[in-house]
Amino acid sequence: MSDPMRPRASLRTAVVWDVLKDALDRRVKATGQEPEAAPDGGGLDVLDTGGGSGNFAVPVARLGHRVTVVDPSPNALFALERRAAEAGVADRVRGVQGDVHGLFDVVERGGYDAVLCHGVLEYVDDPAEGMRNVVSALRPGGVVSLLAAGLGGAVLARALAGHFSEAHRALDDPAGRWGEGDPVPRRFTAEQLTELAQDAGLRVGAVHGVRVFADLVPGVLVDTEPGALEALLKLEAAAAELSAFHSVATQLHVLGETSGTAEGTATAEA
Ligand SMILES: C[S@@+](CC[C@H](N)C(=O)[O-])C[C@H]1O[C@@H](n2cnc3c(N)ncnc32)[C@H](O)[C@@H]1O
Repeated sequence: MSDPMRPRASLRTAVVWDVLKDALDRRVKATGQEPEAAPDGGGLDVLDTGGGSGNFAVPVARLGHRVTVVDPSPNALFALERRAAEAGVADRVRGVQGDVHGLFDVVERGGYDAVLCHGVLEYVDDPAEGMRNVVSALRPGGVVSLLAAGLGGAVLARALAGHFSEAHRALDDPAGRWGEGDPVPRRFTAEQLTELAQDAGLRVGAVHGVRVFADLVPGVLVDTEPGALEALLKLEAAAAELSAFHSVATQLHVLGETSGTAEGTATAEA
């Protein structure tokens, strides 16, 4: 998913993209839905809840999958449509105006091989209900890619910027907010996010820390030092897997699966 025109953007997406692409590839193998090889055209059915303008939906469609994006923002959906057309995947991307709380007013329950929920649970009224809807959208053996703001990363960033009282407030606040001006309504620890996924019936396969260093290093270092971006990407990938770094990551990624086989009946664990 690296974009040669926006190399630094890959710092925000590379870890998640690598984990997500592997999970989709495994699901393709399990279902036999190789893009373009299967009789019906193949590819997976992917739902991107709060998919916005298609940061992930469009690259997923470029792999040959069909992606439905549900988002409440008409502007985001308009941008999605334009982006999908520019990438030549307009026929595989469908934008629907809707909300994760009323998900089944607009999409089919149990109709998807994979559901993405990236940067959404921070903003919804009831994260546990949102999570249960995400899981209910899956077919048996389907996968969830969950990405949300990490508490520790925000505390560290405020402290390193010299806002020590705000850093302290985020640490003590049940929602992990650093003050009235904080634009993010809620942040999570790795334990909280994992528990949310498990309580909704997912088996958690992997947890990754995302943007452990990327938001802290001066941009000029990354932009001007030859090879620095590539080295930082490798460092982020290595640190992402280590639980010690989950506590200071800007975002946390959880990969979950429902139980059951591609052919079986949904038997999500309670
Ligand atoms: C931070 S953006 C993330 C966009 C995209 N998932 C990505 O990773 O680039 C949050 C998105 O969640 C959407 N959103 C906010 N509240 C929502 C809700 N209750 N249900 C679904 N989406 C929501 C917003 O419109 C926005 O597009």
